[in-house]
Amino acid sequence: MKLAGFCFFAGSLLASSPTFNKDVAPIFHERCVQCHHPNDIAPMSLLDYKSARAWAKSIREAVLTRKMPPWFADPQFGHFANDARLKKDEIETIKAWVDGGAKEGDSGDLPKAPMFTEGWRLGTPDIVIDIGETFTLGAGNDAYEHFTVPTNFTEGKWIRAAELRPGNRRVVHHAHINMVSSSTEAGPTTIQAMKPLDEFLVHDGKLTRVSMDAPVLNDACAADAPDLPYIHGFQEGALASYLPGRSPDVFADGTAKWIPAGTKLEFVIHYAKTSAATQTDRTSVGLYLASGPPERPLRRMDLRNFFFLIPAGAPRHEVKRCYTFEKDKLLLSITPHMHYRARDVRYDLVRPDGRHEVLLSVPHYDFNWQLVYRLQDPMLVEKGSLLTVTTHYDNPNATAIRWGDKSEEEMMTSWIEYVDPERHSALQR
Ligand code: HEC
Repeated sequence: MKLAGFCFFAGSLLASSPTFNKDVAPIFHERCVQCHHPNDIAPMSLLDYKSARAWAKSIREAVLTRKMPPWFADPQFGHFANDARLKKDEIETIKAWVDGGAKEGDSGDLPKAPMFTEGWRLGTPDIVIDIGETFTLGAGNDAYEHFTVPTNFTEGKWIRAAELRPGNRRVVHHAHINMVSSSTEAGPTTIQAMKPLDEFLVHDGKLTRVSMDAPVLNDACAADAPDLPYIHGFQEGALASYLPGRSPDVFADGTAKWIPAGTKLEFVIHYAKTSAATQTDRTSVGLYLASGPPERPLRRMDLRNFFFLIPAGAPRHEVKRCYTFEKDKLLLSITPHMHYRARDVRYDLVRPDGRHEVLLSVPHYDFNWQLVYRLQDPMLVEKGSLLTVTTHYDNPNATAIRWGDKSEEEMMTSWIEYVDPERHSALQR
């Protein structure tokens, strides 16, 4: 009896030692390989056993410390559809796999790996439009480039997703696409379009910044805040964006974006500093058509503060921006965008009846990971509600930092996707 019992125990221990093919690959397929496949943003592929095996120790470390998958929202606040955090049992499985010798297992256990079509994460697009030229980037500084290209659409189209795909991931740091009607028009999210700002701006080639002696407004929520450009209301957001770690723009079910006939696409691309070698790029966007008009057109409002000043040496310098809802809106997602010096950001909502909630808190903001936080369920926010965005910055430099395109300068931007709560039976665009 005793012996049989022992054998049974040893047998079950052996059977419970996880293998790559049976236990770990399904987790990697679901949680890791969208970045960890050949020629994407991550340094190694986790699709095949050999390449994953070589990284076993650092995989253990990265999942135990929750460095991977990247996710920065404080779990105390909000629920997010794209929450990337691994479940406890997934972490346990990966840990046990590594501790058990990172075994491959039975080849019959290996599930079918997700397919990656020529680098398009969303599969083959219906329409692909690129920047229209092969752009050559010299060594050295950051560059901000604009490319305006025709869609040649003779009729308008509803799109359900847009995947902005960098041509050269070594140099494309982030990119946006605006819809414009002529090649001389600057899209709504570009600084060139923000005419009332002109007197406060300094242009440095194609890079722009707010001048050091422009008015300073760190707390744009203060009752006595002067009426500076863009500190109230919002601006219409871009069609699509590419940011490190951000998943492609897939519009929520029942929504779509409208691209009118004759629209031109303005690509705004931030090329980050490159080393000695000259690099080329040909970035493109893949458009995915919706099957018909949506119940609700998707919109994005961008909230910014251009007038903060982060004093030299300041630790945890606070900057705020407020927005009062001018009508009811159904919120879908939030994307904070700052640069290297941002330390945290938080979104507080106070409804007309006084109820307060934190929509999103990112206690350790990281410029290298610019994630979109998609709300688990669309959130109805009533007219008159007040949204406060609070950011803190650390400035270890001997000079003050103001708003600017360069990564070493700062931004304070939030993109919020929303739809009208009313379903549109007869659509007004
Ligand atoms: C959103 C894209 C993305 C996802 C999802 C993701 N990774 Fe990564 N991973 C990266 C990138 C980019 C790097 C390299 C930059 C870095 O280390 O921050 C990286 C680095 C790593 C490293 C090296 C860490 C180090 O310290 O050098 C490991 C190990 C790793 N990932 C494991 C995983 C595992 C395991 C998962 C899934 C459970 C995962 N990653 C999910 C993008 C991703």
